[in-house]
Amino acid sequence: VLITAGPTREAIDPVRYISNQSSGKQGYALAEAAVEAGAEVVLVSGPTNLPAPDRVKRIDVVSADDMYNAVMAEVDDSDVFIGVAAVADYKPVQRVDQKIKKGEAPSNQLLTIELIENPDIIASVANLASHPFTVGFAAETENLVEYARKKLIKKKLDMVVANDVSDQAIGFNSDENQITVLFADHEETLPVASKRHVANRIIEIISSKLPIQN
Ligand code: PMT
Repeated sequence: VLITAGPTREAIDPVRYISNQSSGKQGYALAEAAVEAGAEVVLVSGPTNLPAPDRVKRIDVVSADDMYNAVMAEVDDSDVFIGVAAVADYKPVQRVDQKIKKGEAPSNQLLTIELIENPDIIASVANLASHPFTVGFAAETENLVEYARKKLIKKKLDMVVANDVSDQAIGFNSDENQITVLFADHEETLPVASKRHVANRIIEIISSKLPIQN
C-alpha cells in the first residue's frame, strides 16, 4: 500500500514557501491501520512533525514535484494507492536564488509571484496502464459530495474519501474526522471518530473491494 500524507511546500526563495495546514495525522493513521491489517506500507510524506510509524517505509519529500517523483518510483510495486496528502495545486514559476529583500518592489507597487500548476499525482497514478486501486481524498469547504464526486470521475479514481474542511473539528490538523466515502454507484457517510478509527474503517472498506489473493 502506497500512501501520501502531509502538505507540500513550494519554494518562493530560500526561506519562504507556499504550503497549507495539513498535519499528516490522517495519512499517518492510515499507514498505521494498513500495517496492522497486514500490508507492506510505503508512506511518502511531506514535512510534518510526526514520527515515522513502526514497520512503515517512510520517504520524506518537500515539494509536489518531489512527491510526484517518489510516488512514480514506488507505484509499480503497489496494489493500493491512497492520496491523503494536501498537494499544492500551484507552485511559483521561479524559485528566486537569494532571499527577496523588503523594498524590492518599487514603493506602492505590487510584488507579484507567478504560479504554475503542479503535476496531479493521483490522476497520473490512475492513468497508468496497470494502476493500483486508487483512492483519493477530497477536502471541500462547500458542496462536499457533489465536488468529491466530480473528482472521482475527472481523476478516474476507484474511491474518494470526502472531508468537510470548513469545520475545524474534523479537518486539517484536528484529531477527529468525519468522512463520506464515494464510489461510482453509491456513497456512505461515517460518524465522527478519531482519525485512527476513521483510518481503520477506510482500510476495511478498501479491503472489501480488492480481489481476494492467496
Ligand atoms: O493531514 P491532516 O491535518 O490530518 O488533514 C487531513 C486532510 C484534511 C489533509 C485529508 O483528510 C485530506 O482531505 N486530504 C486531501 C487534501 C486535498 O488536497 O484535497 P484536494 O481536493 O485538493 O485533492 C484531491 C486529491 O488529489 C487528493 O487525493 C490529493 O492528494 C490529490 N492531488 C491533488 C493535487 C495534486 N497536484 N496532486 C494530487 O495527487
